[in-house]
Amino acid sequence: MDTKKEMAKLKKRLKEIAHLAHASKLLSWDREVYMPDAGTEHRAEAASELSGLIHKKILALNSDELLSNLHEAEKSGDLKDDDAAIIRETWRDYKRKAELPEKFVRQLSQLTSEAQSIWRKARENDDFDQFAPTLKKIVEMQQEKAEHLGYEETPYDPLLEGFEPRMTTEKTEKIFTDLRDFLVPLIEDIRGQELSINKQIEGQEVPIEEQKEFNRAVAEEMGYDFHAGRLDASTHPFTQAMSPQDARITTRYTPTNLLSSLTATIHEMGHGLYEQGLPDAHYGTPLAEPASLGVHESQSRLWENHIARSLPFSKWLHQKLTKQLAGLENISANGVYKELNTVTPSLIRVEADEVTYNLHIIIRFELEKALIEGSLSVEELPEQWNEKYEKYLGIEVPNDAEGVLQDIHWSMGSFGYFPTYTFGNLYAAQLDQAMRKEIPEIDTKIRSGGFEQIVSWLQNNIHRQGKRYSAEELIENVTGNRLRVDAFKSYIQSKYGNLYEINL
Ligand code: CO
Repeated sequence: MDTKKEMAKLKKRLKEIAHLAHASKLLSWDREVYMPDAGTEHRAEAASELSGLIHKKILALNSDELLSNLHEAEKSGDLKDDDAAIIRETWRDYKRKAELPEKFVRQLSQLTSEAQSIWRKARENDDFDQFAPTLKKIVEMQQEKAEHLGYEETPYDPLLEGFEPRMTTEKTEKIFTDLRDFLVPLIEDIRGQELSINKQIEGQEVPIEEQKEFNRAVAEEMGYDFHAGRLDASTHPFTQAMSPQDARITTRYTPTNLLSSLTATIHEMGHGLYEQGLPDAHYGTPLAEPASLGVHESQSRLWENHIARSLPFSKWLHQKLTKQLAGLENISANGVYKELNTVTPSLIRVEADEVTYNLHIIIRFELEKALIEGSLSVEELPEQWNEKYEKYLGIEVPNDAEGVLQDIHWSMGSFGYFPTYTFGNLYAAQLDQAMRKEIPEIDTKIRSGGFEQIVSWLQNNIHRQGKRYSAEELIENVTGNRLRVDAFKSYIQSKYGNLYEINL
């Protein structure tokens, strides 16, 4: 086989898929940002038509056995590095799609699209029983999916694999249990301690137009490229990249909560910078794709938490705030820092601070793993949910709408997805630790708004690598370690020990 010629043929097929995916991503971005409500129905049809086409094209990667021949060549070491990585990842993706029967895929997509509106109504009525039969079907189909995909240890493995390639349930469980046992007593200690903050920014009305300008200026100064991106508003902040040349972010605005829109912008900017930094020369191949959802989240969390919630950043931000916005003359840099770092156990994950956040994820992981493995029934779910919130976060869940029904992801069939948030938080701490050793006087630079070296450090070490390595290999190359809890632990202990003046 002429591998060079065959590779060229495969890359051509991959490019076609990338172009269709480009269109499909733009449709979904537009749906969240611009589309009028009445457009929903036809847009859903168009999107589904397009994803059907993409699915067919992915399966056709192997027509004339092109992909499996290249996969054999890769296994016997006949491909050069770049090509080997492309084939390894394309094969993995192809296999996962090929192993699911078409009828099953159609049924699952039908079920989850109905489930989302059933879930919405159940949450509105605070009535879990309304959602339970549908959730039960979704769990059964996830179990069936795991059977199709195959597994050795637990049916949760192949589901987790879909979001975090080559991560195992066993490792996740070990890491999460360690993290949980660290966080539960630590949060209790923090709760016993009052942090005297007088919120100076939250509650202040800042007109949305001014907020937009301010958010844009901050993102631009931090390194986000507006020639290859946009900042818009949407109900839930998100990032959508059509290509490294067009990686868009959104945030949400509330007139009296400037810091909430700003931290959301910085979070999404971290995602956006990753997408902008992927190597455009490899566009259409896995070498220009993010390593995993966990690595993606590490980029947003590193900017949002490790940089933007640091004291030097608060000093920089304080200057900008007092200079550019009226009515904020009386705030102090230390006040901004404290306001950005209050720890309050809460019911809702998306509003959680960086200390309590991971417990929301760990609770979901424990519950969804038990559901998939069959050791927990859907009927028992609300009770278990409430028990864990009480046990881990010390809070009482007043109703199912704010408890087990709060989140859309289970109705979408996204089982195995939540852990990637915590992988991201842990990777971010590992990267932050490594980066601080390599960038001299990083705090002084942050304090005066010098972010260039941080951006280029991340570009070189993470962004430019695409999917060349698995998430854990990539992190190991950069930090010397695979996924670990200790960097996160020491970051939290030192930061919050200082803030709350206690020994954690
Ligand atoms: Co994110």
